[in-house]
Amino acid sequence: MVSHDAPVALITGGSAGLGVHVAARFLADGYRVILVGRDEDRLRAAITRLPTSSGVVSAEPCDLSKPAQVAALFERLGDNPGRLDVLVNCVGSSDRGLIEKLQPEKLGDLIQQNVVTALLCSQAALPMLEASGGVIVNIGSLASKVGARYIGGYAIAKHALAGMTQQMRLELKPRGVHVGLISPGPIRRDDAGRRYDTSDDPSLPSQAAKPGGGTTIKGLPPERVADAVMKMVRRRSPDIVMPGYLRILIAIGHASPRLGDWLLLRFSSDKG
Ligand SMILES: NC(=O)c1ccc[n+]([C@@H]2O[C@H](COP(=O)([O-])OP(=O)(O)OC[C@H]3O[C@@H](n4cnc5c(N)ncnc54)[C@H](OP(=O)(O)O)[C@@H]3O)[C@@H](O)[C@H]2O)c1
Repeated sequence: MVSHDAPVALITGGSAGLGVHVAARFLADGYRVILVGRDEDRLRAAITRLPTSSGVVSAEPCDLSKPAQVAALFERLGDNPGRLDVLVNCVGSSDRGLIEKLQPEKLGDLIQQNVVTALLCSQAALPMLEASGGVIVNIGSLASKVGARYIGGYAIAKHALAGMTQQMRLELKPRGVHVGLISPGPIRRDDAGRRYDTSDDPSLPSQAAKPGGGTTIKGLPPERVADAVMKMVRRRSPDIVMPGYLRILIAIGHASPRLGDWLLLRFSSDKG
């Protein structure tokens, strides 16, 4: 039985993919969990997949790219449950394509999904997080750290999220709120190889449709990424890269961009 004093975690994008695993992780730790997504049916279906016997989970349908909807959501949450300890900004979407063909409208959509939703939620959640000394976890990607080939506007959007995360962390530290970024590589899922149909663009190699735009990095179990979210909350870690060994390669790439490019090409073969 979860007590009314149990901490509260809000997971955006909690109705599918990684968000559901993050929700399960927080429930297992005794949190009350709030899932947010646009589609009410999808949210309800996600709840049926969660071990609700171990905790309390509720769903809040909301389009988090819409400022008025976000404001109304957090006003409601301010009344009930009236506290927030963790905000996990998990909404985001990837892309496929060549940068030379990237359209401003598409880039705008990606920035809405990957950056603006996290910005609006963090701003609206701040009073409750300040009261609890809480944590914001932003879900980035390896595309927050490097600009790989064939991923359209995804790296631009996720790099923006990384910059925003650091700025938020520095500005909110004196106010007792911790902000961190998790940058996972491709995450295992049943539809991983079928999510991107690039067949209508002959300029893209077939590897572009693969997870990570064809990186040779093994898919991460989503439970491991969910564990990393919990670790970030407990240790107030600023930045987690998954798999961890890539941090050193990313650092090498920053120190020597020439070597960084060579490493990136090695980790994303051109084989179809
Ligand atoms: N999948 C990977 O391999 C991978 C790898 C590295 C990083 N990531 C990152 O991990 C996060 C989750 O990715 P995923 O692939 O698990 O996502 P996903 O399966 O595509 O699910 C996205 C979730 O976000 C919700 N959502 C989308 N737009 C929304 C909006 N405007 N307002 C409210 N909810 C919205 C969706 O529900 P509705 O559609 O009903 O709104 C859904 O619950 C993303 O930030 C992604 O960039 C993913």
